[in-house]
Amino acid sequence: MKNKVRKAVFPAAGLGTRFLPATKALPKEMLALVDKPLIQYGVEEAIAAGCEQIIIVTGRNKAEIEDHFDISFELEQLLEARGKKDLLSMSRYISHMANIAYVRQKEAMGLGHAVLMARDLVGDEPFAVILPDDVIDARVPCLKQMIEVFEQTQCSVLATQVVEGPAISSYGVLDCTEVKDNPRLFDVRALVEKPKEEEAPSRHAIIGRYILTPRIFEELRETPLGSGGELQLTDGIKGLLASEKVYGYSFEGTRYDAGDKLGMLKATVAFTLEREDLGPEFREYLKSLNL
Ligand code: G1P
Repeated sequence: MKNKVRKAVFPAAGLGTRFLPATKALPKEMLALVDKPLIQYGVEEAIAAGCEQIIIVTGRNKAEIEDHFDISFELEQLLEARGKKDLLSMSRYISHMANIAYVRQKEAMGLGHAVLMARDLVGDEPFAVILPDDVIDARVPCLKQMIEVFEQTQCSVLATQVVEGPAISSYGVLDCTEVKDNPRLFDVRALVEKPKEEEAPSRHAIIGRYILTPRIFEELRETPLGSGGELQLTDGIKGLLASEKVYGYSFEGTRYDAGDKLGMLKATVAFTLEREDLGPEFREYLKSLNL
């Protein structure tokens, strides 16, 4: 097994029902956060973390994702003719930013099933999984922080955050203990997908960033369908625990669930305020609202 994380898998075949009607014809991964599709934030994070190969697991009605990362001749010609140099270089940057392979998940059978579709493209090496709806604003990209943990431990690493209240039932949840002298790191004993609040083993919820050892593929092949009648990645990782250590990692940064309407609105405010070109005027506008 090679011990460098070179590949990042992006499950992107989901239907995006939480964002209807916007996602009736538009892939949810293409929803714009300020002016950039969600999936581009994830791809940029993977590249910043040192990944060289992006694997996007798509499904029907997802052609816009491939088009977005492809060359757009008409657009480039137009921008060139109009002398719009900055926009032209941005368009070129997007189509050359990464080495991207696509694989299709023909049936919506769950996150574990989506990851299993990437098996042949990943091969026998550790890899990252990024859920594009989870956008993370961090000084050091979240995946980079996790790769540092992987490099020290050579074990699977799951990003976590503390979730209070009934919302815990929307997540995979860890049963875990803090690793001595490292308050961000947790030794995972067990994990459960979308438990009832009263049955949640802790408040440490899994967020959409994973580093997994290739053994996960063997586990997923043996894992029965779980929560929602789907093949759950959380259940596959539970299988992994029988033979390997798995760590939870409470990353430094803020996560937005941009696949949810309110989450997207919060992310929009935060990301716009950080922008040099839009932030100052937007801040003044927000202040003027006198809410
Ligand atoms: C998925 C995972 C869940 C995880 C969550 C993070 O759930 O199955 O374990 O906590 O992503 O966003 P989904 O949001 O796809 O239902």
